[in-house]
Amino acid sequence: MKIVFPVAGVGTRFLPATKEVPKEILPIIDKPLIQYALEEAVQSGLADFIFITAPGKEALERYFAPNRELDEFLKRHRKAHLLDGLQEFYRKNFSYIRQEQALGFGHAIALAEKAVGDEAFAISLPDDLILSERPAMAQMLEIYEKYRSPVIAFMEVPRADIPRYGIAAGKFIAERVFQIEKLVEKPAIADAPSNFAVIGRYIMTPDIFPLLRETAHGAGAEIQLTDAVIQLMKKRRVLGYFFEGRRFDAGTTLGYIETLIHVALHREDTRDFTRRLLRDLAKNEKL
Ligand code: UTP
Repeated sequence: MKIVFPVAGVGTRFLPATKEVPKEILPIIDKPLIQYALEEAVQSGLADFIFITAPGKEALERYFAPNRELDEFLKRHRKAHLLDGLQEFYRKNFSYIRQEQALGFGHAIALAEKAVGDEAFAISLPDDLILSERPAMAQMLEIYEKYRSPVIAFMEVPRADIPRYGIAAGKFIAERVFQIEKLVEKPAIADAPSNFAVIGRYIMTPDIFPLLRETAHGAGAEIQLTDAVIQLMKKRRVLGYFFEGRRFDAGTTLGYIETLIHVALHREDTRDFTRRLLRDLAKNEKL
């Protein structure tokens, strides 16, 4: 299965850093955000990556290609191992599609139509970093294989956060799996049908593309995938899946801090230091 990474957004919430550096290259410790999403995809058995990028984000393309000078330099200094995690990507299949204008997440996905072809495909938003025992995308693929219906990842969010998400309700057909009956993009708390929030992992079927094209005729604002999914729900069953694991929102500044701390606590080489640091900070009454 192919996987689409829509990474053409402007990243306004991380300005000024994102003026020159794509948001997806900002590191969580020493690894760019995008690499976490790619590793999850690889661990889920996927190897065909489609990036929807924007002008000015060429660093993202360069990141997953070899850099001869750096390779030579590291070899000379016996430090080639420092790129170990990255080298495995050099052999994978990448394609890049330009979204000339940031017309929305749905618009970005529509641009993948030709590259995806007539098969189901995965979508991953690197802003959502998921720490889990089993890769989140592998869990999603398993649900798709079982039910052969489009699948969207979900988690429960505190009521106050509801207006930031796509929110759905529906009936459960298995543990963690529900058929979506209602879906609304960023509702007011009072109008929300639940606190089940859409997270950035999807398995979509190619019948979403004509619907995205129709959505494109709407006036004004960004083209949202949610609007096309609402149309898709009239034609076929769309499933929601509560993945196992914990998701961090690295796409906001506060979420970024939280992500950084949790990854630091998760990683063996940084765990003890971070624990000590947090304990010492908590003890300091001046905080
Ligand atoms: P966001 O809503 O997080 O937008 O997009 P953003 O530009 O990345 O960040 P802010 O809100 O300006 O800070 C959700 C996902 O959809 C992609 C983004 O790159 C991100 O992965 N996207 C969004 C596109 O590919 N194209 C668009 O036109 C809009």
